[in-house]
Amino acid sequence: METALTRLAGVRHPIVQTGMGWVAGPRLVSATANAGALGILASATMTLDQLRTSIAEVRCRTDAPFGVNLRADSADAGDRVRLIIDGGVRVASFALAPSPELIAELKAAGVVVIPSVGARRHAEKVAAWGADAVIVQGGEGGGHTGEVATSVLLPQVVDAVRIPVVAAGGFFDGRGLVAALAYGAAGVAMGTRFLLTSDSAVPDAVKARYLAAAVKDVTVTRAVDGLPHRMLRSDLVAALESSGRARSLLHALRRAAGFRKLSGLTWRQMVQDGLALRHGKELSWSQVLLAANTPMLLRSAMVDGRTDLGVMASGQVAGVIDDLPSCAELVERIMKEAAEVRERLTTAR
Ligand SMILES: Cc1cc2nc3c(=O)[nH]c(=O)nc-3n(C[C@H](O)[C@H](O)[C@H](O)COP(=O)(O)O)c2cc1C
Repeated sequence: METALTRLAGVRHPIVQTGMGWVAGPRLVSATANAGALGILASATMTLDQLRTSIAEVRCRTDAPFGVNLRADSADAGDRVRLIIDGGVRVASFALAPSPELIAELKAAGVVVIPSVGARRHAEKVAAWGADAVIVQGGEGGGHTGEVATSVLLPQVVDAVRIPVVAAGGFFDGRGLVAALAYGAAGVAMGTRFLLTSDSAVPDAVKARYLAAAVKDVTVTRAVDGLPHRMLRSDLVAALESSGRARSLLHALRRAAGFRKLSGLTWRQMVQDGLALRHGKELSWSQVLLAANTPMLLRSAMVDGRTDLGVMASGQVAGVIDDLPSCAELVERIMKEAAEVRERLTTAR
């Protein structure tokens, strides 16, 4: 199926596997790329060296195009952009709005720039700065998320910008892809659905928690880092929600110390990253620390399998997903179903 997204990214299918911290590593990304969709490496939770090695590993495993997700506000964003350019990466994806300078540098080097946004005005801003396309995530989506549902946000953004729009938040099957195309999108981007594949390196016991979840087990909380964050309900989330400020600050400090060691970041960089996450919101210092500390909480669950100590970011779709196909099976199934749905629509009376 050819769309503006497949042409821009050079992929066979209008499907994106998004950059999920600790989840979207070389194995998942190359499996997605080999399945003909656009896989995006999550680099915000990698050191520079890990990013360099991961890009090389994906290139070893596939000749197909892929992307890298990064944070424009991270202290070493410039170095990461260099790695993307030198590594011949096709797409740069941004969690928060990139600067016009970064967009210009990437585009001059032939990299396609596709920021993720959660509001119409952000889409308009990055389009004016020269972004090639935009991923728009509705409130159903996993991780940091907004309040407006995809069914409202998507047509609003499609009408507001002239660049291709990729729909995210709540997609998992071929019906969703056709619905997104009907809204005027150029494809769909999925996080939770790709986390729940046999190619994702998330521990089996953690995947089992997602598969067992019902839609009502997926909640939005500010208790982790002060920002609305969609994740599975767990004892930890309940404890954070009911614990006082002092306790959560202590908890944040302990976690932040661990992440600092792992990531090689200085305290100053961590605080800068935490401040950037405030994103124009009024957060207290303890919330800033909590924000800086979120990657560590995600890591505990996604890498170490400690669902008691970590958070499990998740879209609402976890409640309707009950299998673990390979990326190849998943992409083939979605495209087949999309073709059937389109056929049914054109022959329906
Ligand atoms: C476990 C997990 C980790 C995520 N980490 C990131 C991240 O590091 N950067 C980012 O831009 N988005 C991140 N997200 C959001 C996804 O990239 C994507 O926009 C979202 O999952 C789409 O909604 P869906 O889960 O309904 O498909 C994460 C989502 C999940 C579920």
